[in-house]
Amino acid sequence: MNPMPISSLIRSASLLLTAIVFTAACGSTTVRATPEVTSPARVAATFPASWHFQPGAAATTAPHAIVVSNDSIASRVGRDIIARGGNAVDAAVATGFALAVTYPFAGNIGGGGFMVIRMADGRTAALDYREIAPLAATRDMYLDAQGNLTNKSIIGHLAAGVPGSVAGMEDALLRYGTLPLKTVVAPAIELAEQGFVIDSGFSRELERSQRNITRFEGGPLFFPDGHVVAPGTRFKQPELAWTLRQIAERGSAGFYSGPVADSLVAEMKRGGGIITNADLLKYKPEWRPPVKGTYRGYSILSMPPASSGGITMMETLNILETYDKPAPFGSTQWAHRLAEAYQRAFLDRNSKLGDPAFIDVPQDELTSKAYARKLREKIDDQHHTPTATLVASREPMHTTHYSVVDDKGNAVSTTTTLNNGFGSAVWVRGAGFFLNDEMDDFAAKPGSPNMFGLVQGEQNAIAPGKRMLSAMTPTIVLNPKGQVLLVVGGAGGPTIITGTSQVVLDVIDYRMSLADAMRAPRLHHQSLPDSLSFERGGLDPAVADSLRAMGHSLKQVPSLVNINAIMRVNGGWDGVFEPRSRGGAVGY
Ligand code: DON
Repeated sequence: MNPMPISSLIRSASLLLTAIVFTAACGSTTVRATPEVTSPARVAATFPASWHFQPGAAATTAPHAIVVSNDSIASRVGRDIIARGGNAVDAAVATGFALAVTYPFAGNIGGGGFMVIRMADGRTAALDYREIAPLAATRDMYLDAQGNLTNKSIIGHLAAGVPGSVAGMEDALLRYGTLPLKTVVAPAIELAEQGFVIDSGFSRELERSQRNITRFEGGPLFFPDGHVVAPGTRFKQPELAWTLRQIAERGSAGFYSGPVADSLVAEMKRGGGIITNADLLKYKPEWRPPVKGTYRGYSILSMPPASSGGITMMETLNILETYDKPAPFGSTQWAHRLAEAYQRAFLDRNSKLGDPAFIDVPQDELTSKAYARKLREKIDDQHHTPTATLVASREPMHTTHYSVVDDKGNAVSTTTTLNNGFGSAVWVRGAGFFLNDEMDDFAAKPGSPNMFGLVQGEQNAIAPGKRMLSAMTPTIVLNPKGQVLLVVGGAGGPTIITGTSQVVLDVIDYRMSLADAMRAPRLHHQSLPDSLSFERGGLDPAVADSLRAMGHSLKQVPSLVNINAIMRVNGGWDGVFEPRSRGGAVGY
């Protein structure tokens, strides 16, 4: 394959993000929310006149339990597990396996993820089941003879990290679930074996990736006779069903050893990949304490490294908390403060965060209120500070989120990914699943942008057995009484951090309902490129002019982030799947 220049890589990433967000909405029952008293009174939101969503939409409300994901069938699987007596962790794992069948775009057993758990008895945990670099990985494996980046970290066999999803989901279940693995995998097996009727969103996602998928072994399944499987047809995946049966019968050993592992290794050999049986046997998820912080009296629980999500979000929220009062929503000051705070937090992210097994992460410092006050002193209220002047003093798409609450008060926030839609596009012959292209989340060439335009440093360089730094931000927010208020997270590379934190801010600072917070226009800044992205129509034109006058370089994008969230309301829970995408909020 010819190397692709980095500009094309970035372009393909933005195309990917566009594809992510403009899939059709489907399948959720919508019930009007009851007025809430368990969290502070909500205030009617005001959006810019140019914005395409109207405030005041209803959420799906459920009195007992709710699951929100990017696929309504998978949400229903999780809901049914709770209705039959399982807890939120059982439901999250069942939803995760179901997504691997019904949402192959991002749901997976060939990728990895992160899970933040808050049990009703107050226990909290964060599970890191991120992929790791294979033992034969080398620092410069994606550079050509001239030292330029190739696209081998994005497509094809070399792009895959050792998958963590199966081991992670099994571990979550063993530690916090109540049901046997067999029971929670069963609905996924049935969906793969008996098939399910696919909708236009499913077909469209595949069609956009036809060129890549048909280069590898998944072509005949997803494009029989050269055409994408049509909406309305019942779609069966017998090879995936077989793999899921191995997992149901032998646990994660059924994936990391035996015939499934052998199929994966054979697939690697066929395409010049480097994952071996030894890599698969070595894989282990890690339990870590969640990142904990506070924002204006609310408690935040989020994901620590190997994800950057929790630290970067907490650093941003701490900076914003130094302002006595939030700036009016949609105003110039609102956009400016968000941009400057994100910019500082991303500078730290890109230069200081990485796999804690390989580097020292200054987590306590970065998440402290004192550090945020120091950063705030350097923020000019009238002018944007160019990233270049901040960098000088320092060291040199597709994912899916699902949120679950059960009738016992347990909450689970999970983000999982293959990185790009359908990952590396490599489909394991005989075992029926896509492999990730997570290796691109490393700094394949420190100082050069990756697919998401992130310019990262040495701390995230490639090394065997190392976890690549993530932006996934599965988060749980507790209200001042210590009850779960929000379960939230999203897909969209670095925009996950900015989008997730804005839903949190919209709920806490602007007292929006969850439906409004999910429909509110979003902004994104990641320090480099030094531009403030906004959604088309999402900034009042006068505000945009003022921001330009302050030195911001504005970039209009079709939309930002794919979030699925749950919020406590009077008498139950509101669930909202991403209005910019597709999904289902299913409760009872
Ligand atoms: O872990 C990360 O940060 C990325 N692999 C996430 C990729 C992603 O969200 C793509 N989907 N939009």
